[in-house]
Amino acid sequence: FPPARILGIESSCDETSAAVIANGREPLSIVTATQIEMHAQFGGVFPEVASRQHIKTVYGVIEQALQQAHMSLSDVDAIAVTLGPGLAGSLVVGVNAAKGLAVASGLPLVGVNHLEGHIYSAWLRPPEMADLPPAPQFPLLALLVSGGHTELNLITNHLEYQRLGGTLDDAAGEAFDKVARLLGLPYPGGPSIQEAAKNGNPRTFQFPRSMLEGTWNFSFSGLKTAVLRAVQNFKNDPENLPVNDLAASFQTAVVDVLVSKTLAAAKAYGAKEILLAGGVSANAALREGFRKHSPIKVNIPDLSYCTDNAAMIAAAGYFRFVAGHVSDLDVDVLPNLSL
Ligand code: KG4
Ligand code: ZN
Repeated sequence: FPPARILGIESSCDETSAAVIANGREPLSIVTATQIEMHAQFGGVFPEVASRQHIKTVYGVIEQALQQAHMSLSDVDAIAVTLGPGLAGSLVVGVNAAKGLAVASGLPLVGVNHLEGHIYSAWLRPPEMADLPPAPQFPLLALLVSGGHTELNLITNHLEYQRLGGTLDDAAGEAFDKVARLLGLPYPGGPSIQEAAKNGNPRTFQFPRSMLEGTWNFSFSGLKTAVLRAVQNFKNDPENLPVNDLAASFQTAVVDVLVSKTLAAAKAYGAKEILLAGGVSANAALREGFRKHSPIKVNIPDLSYCTDNAAMIAAAGYFRFVAGHVSDLDVDVLPNLSL
């Protein structure tokens, strides 16, 4: 792969982020402005608020990312930006900023799929590590678990995906967020549940594990309903709601399903390695579950790359760029893009 430095820009949801990445793997700078606190009061992402906040921060974030890399635009080889999937009003802010910079500098513009970004986060060198770790080896069985997606993909080579299945209802991250709300835990639900679960017993409640045998699909709505029922049993005694045990029992049910289906798919398709990515891949119990049970190597992004960031967009943008994928300057956002 030829050397190239990519400026990445991400604004698909509630993080405004810019990063400069060398050769698809080496972080030179990453700057992320999170809106989590603004949205926490609404218990979720408020699209109108999100896009307005992206407008306020996007240019400052890009400038800081270049500054921290000790670069100006003329030192980078291309500008990569998330086209989708995501919130239309948020995506358009990053895409317009990227287009403006591409026009002004003459640099090529590379449109990136956010999900592909999550996958390429596993190629990034962790910030604290001096040397590049070995790159993931194909064929890879990838589990992508975020707030909007839960899917299994066979990745046969760079940029080549075969979707095996996905969730039929809630995404894994969405299930964490909804169950957190049922338990009265703050947004975002994933980290809140992980925290509560530390002090809970995962065997207190026997929640259902929907395996959907014979398919590579997932379903989390039955599990969510089971948690709701358990919560309702305490409606006359809310003080004694065993939040920690409920969180631990829920988390363990999600982890069981994700780990066992992914390992089964990896075996069925003869994958050499596994790749875990997306916001939910930050979950400690999930990471531990894979490390403990997988007979093959599991590539898990550094914690700092799991939730939305521009480093992963620059990494995916690099592999697109060197493969000759450059976007037109009139490219539009694609809120419903799939892999
Ligand atoms: O990838 P991401 O930042 O945004 C999307 O592309 O959706 O994922 C956000 C999701 C949220 O649902 C959040 O609750 C979940 O990832 N998440 C976690 C953890 N950290 C973030 N879920 C479980 N455990 C965590 N530690
Ligand atoms: Zn994401």
